[in-house]
Amino acid sequence: MAQWIDAGPVEALKDRGRRVFKAGRNQILLIASGERIFACNNRCPHEGYPLSEGTLGAPCTLTCNWHNWKFDLSSGETVVGGDQLRLYPVEVRDRNVWVDVADVPAEQRQRRALENLEQACADNDYERMAREVARHERAGGEPLEPLRHMVRTRAAHFEYGMTHAYAAAPDWVALGAIAHAEDERLTARVEPIAHIAWDTLRQPEFPFTQATKSWDATAFAAAIESEDEPGAIALLNGALTDGVSLRELKPAFAKAALAHYQDFGHSAIYARKAFELIDALGQTVAGPVLRSLARSIIYATREDRIPEFRAYPQVLAKKPQGSGATCAAEQFIGLSVNSTLDRVSTMAGSDEAKYRTLLEASAIAMLRFDLAVDLHTDRAVSHNVRWLDFTHMLTFGNAVRQHCTETPELWQAALLQMACFLGRNAPYLLPAADENWFVADVAQFFAHQQRALFDHGIREPIFSCHRVKMLTAVKEEVAWAGEGSLSRHLVAATNRYLNTPIKLHHALRMAHQALSFVEAEG
Ligand code: FES
Repeated sequence: MAQWIDAGPVEALKDRGRRVFKAGRNQILLIASGERIFACNNRCPHEGYPLSEGTLGAPCTLTCNWHNWKFDLSSGETVVGGDQLRLYPVEVRDRNVWVDVADVPAEQRQRRALENLEQACADNDYERMAREVARHERAGGEPLEPLRHMVRTRAAHFEYGMTHAYAAAPDWVALGAIAHAEDERLTARVEPIAHIAWDTLRQPEFPFTQATKSWDATAFAAAIESEDEPGAIALLNGALTDGVSLRELKPAFAKAALAHYQDFGHSAIYARKAFELIDALGQTVAGPVLRSLARSIIYATREDRIPEFRAYPQVLAKKPQGSGATCAAEQFIGLSVNSTLDRVSTMAGSDEAKYRTLLEASAIAMLRFDLAVDLHTDRAVSHNVRWLDFTHMLTFGNAVRQHCTETPELWQAALLQMACFLGRNAPYLLPAADENWFVADVAQFFAHQQRALFDHGIREPIFSCHRVKMLTAVKEEVAWAGEGSLSRHLVAATNRYLNTPIKLHHALRMAHQALSFVEAEG
């Protein structure tokens, strides 16, 4: 409802050109320009400096002199800059200026904040994303709706399906739930949105098929295996239309994700995190998230087809022998891919016991990762092994345990895939682990590191999201494993990773490898 207030005589305003008055919490700027009178928020929507100090240009463009944003006072459009300036309706009655200072309805403010958020994402403007999410919340919006909105609207813009932007989002939501302060909570909401924006920046829409077929898990697996996206998505559309439960769909995705040693574990991780994201944001994101997940698995690189891992399908095809002795985690350190596969297939013990051993071996390998490898500038591209190749052993392990607990038939493939990880990273280890990374107070370690995530200081989301995902995965595995050697190694490995500076860009290495490659092309 309108709320008109008398803002004083017209003539006095015209004499002075502009005037600021307060209405509730708002400072309103009145500007007279010839016969026209404008009212707008006096706080610049960029950083809040006073527009009363701005410069009025022809015909009615107000420039904020702090950073040169320009606002058309007749249309309210931001001509240069981003966020929109709020204008107020003005009338002249009996030679006085009247201004309608009524609040814009909450739903309208929320809708506008979401529209503006899309614009901020299109510009990859992090600061504006934070402001628009804060505006949406200040207007009474549900705190997770901006993330929900971005997940829904950007799903088809990931050309090759979901990325870590979706995978880390549920971990950010969980972090936000335990945040102590309002700015931390806002950080946890903006970070996944900014990651989605980053990963889909300037990407057109790659529409999913609208076709629908009745759900059939076997046909879905076949469509994914044959990289038939329209076929797989049509079946998924059918499942969603017919109300097939997420509980029923989950094992189908788990099987597809572990059908190959693929994408260095990304598919299995994504197949967990996609469902966690739906749990966190609700059923309205189920379609976009699952279609994007299916696309990512279809496009996943199947490393078990390259010579390095060719033994994997052969070992998998054999029945596990379980005839050997049990093995300690240390006995896996330094073994080649083939030797690791052999040892996993012959070692005695339950699947869960083998998992514990392989996870601990992965943590030990992380403690022994030779950081010089991450820094090299003059070796072949096959030696481009980074911290993230090691952290994925643990985040993949976390996904493996959860998938296989729900779908036990996947244990053998998943354990052998963990063996592939271990063997692949074996050539890049130091002779011994650094004992200094062991942690005395595990609870305090997690609390401190979680708090640190709110101010990680890393611009590229691919690096920051790995910190979030790694800490979440390890915390879950420690809670599951209980006290003991496995947890001690997991926490120590995480401690080393989180407290070692990572080289974020390899310009010289890439130049060296480009020259070698082009030279070899002839
Ligand atoms: S505060 Fe006005 S342009 Fe930056």
